[in-house]
Amino acid sequence: RNFKRLMECRTDIERLNAPFLAIYESLIPPEEEKEKQKQLLTSLEKLVCKEWPDARLYIYGSCANSFGFSKSDIDVCIAIDQDINKSEVLLELADIFQSDNLQNVQALTRARVPIVKLKDPVTGISCDICINNVLAVVNTKLLRDYAQIDVRLRQLAFIVKHWAKSRAVNETYQGTLSSYAYVLMCIHFLQQRKPAILPCLQGMETTYAVTVEEVECTYFDQVEKLRDFGARNKETIAQLVWAFFNYWAYSHDYTNSVISVRTGSILSKQSKDWTRRIGNDRHLICIEDPFETSHDLGRVVDKYSIRVLREEFERAAEIMQRDPDPCTALFKPY
Ligand code: GTP
Ligand code: MG
Repeated sequence: RNFKRLMECRTDIERLNAPFLAIYESLIPPEEEKEKQKQLLTSLEKLVCKEWPDARLYIYGSCANSFGFSKSDIDVCIAIDQDINKSEVLLELADIFQSDNLQNVQALTRARVPIVKLKDPVTGISCDICINNVLAVVNTKLLRDYAQIDVRLRQLAFIVKHWAKSRAVNETYQGTLSSYAYVLMCIHFLQQRKPAILPCLQGMETTYAVTVEEVECTYFDQVEKLRDFGARNKETIAQLVWAFFNYWAYSHDYTNSVISVRTGSILSKQSKDWTRRIGNDRHLICIEDPFETSHDLGRVVDKYSIRVLREEFERAAEIMQRDPDPCTALFKPY
């Protein structure tokens, strides 16, 4: 009887593959959006280079890491190879953009990552521009490289991000997690499947190396050679979504564990000295940044928001287990 029940569960779960894939497809940005983004980048580059001829512009974040939804804002990093005062440059940039008829121009010089925000009236795209945040450009490449290895990463991360946005648990200023943190959770989860669906690129031979702000960033980036890596694992997107929420609802050891994409394993909080609150960093859910290893992406989570998060993971796991119409319930707006 148990076997029969298990097989019923299997087929129940498999019914969700088609709707999950449909959601995934519907969120992928169309080609013409990419074109518009490039167009905007080129015109911003022209403006910036009038004042700083050596400056280079990079798109980072979701528009470049392949985990971006249709109609998302773009994140741009200006690399200026000079000794500059970021706040001053940002204010100057704001003036330049304002004079060029860009809309809603606003310099946020006191933010953790200081930026200028603007909206381009021609393409309708909003954009956040930061200066010399080169680590973000490098971690963007790492995420994009992981996405090339197995399509199930992009599918899983889209479903998880869509769930997080629908359930309002993708708001760092409210103590929940960034999209970047959710993608790292997905990569780590797929590294842990048996057989593994993703390798640990930073544990392999170095084919890509840069040093940024004294951080050595090295990993294997010839991902076209790894296209078959996950082939031995036949799990479908529906099974993976189910297992992902189950892991974060019932299996993760929040008291002792740190998830680490860098090592492709779980580390102890003890080994990172992340066992107590220091300043505002509480380490209630620990996600190690792959390059800035002293950086816990869960640091924004406080004792209230950890409950919200864990209840949402449990809610999602329960829905995947029992709800007759999981796709509607899972993404029900909070
Ligand atoms: P959406 O805008 O929600 O679609 O997602 P996103 O991928 O753009 O993510 P998010 O806005 O959270 O962050 C944008 C980029 O900033 C990420 O892709 C990272 O490259 C970088 N980033 C975000 N948070 C951190 C952080 O805490 N540390 C570092 N080093 N980089 C970060
Ligand atoms: Mg973004």
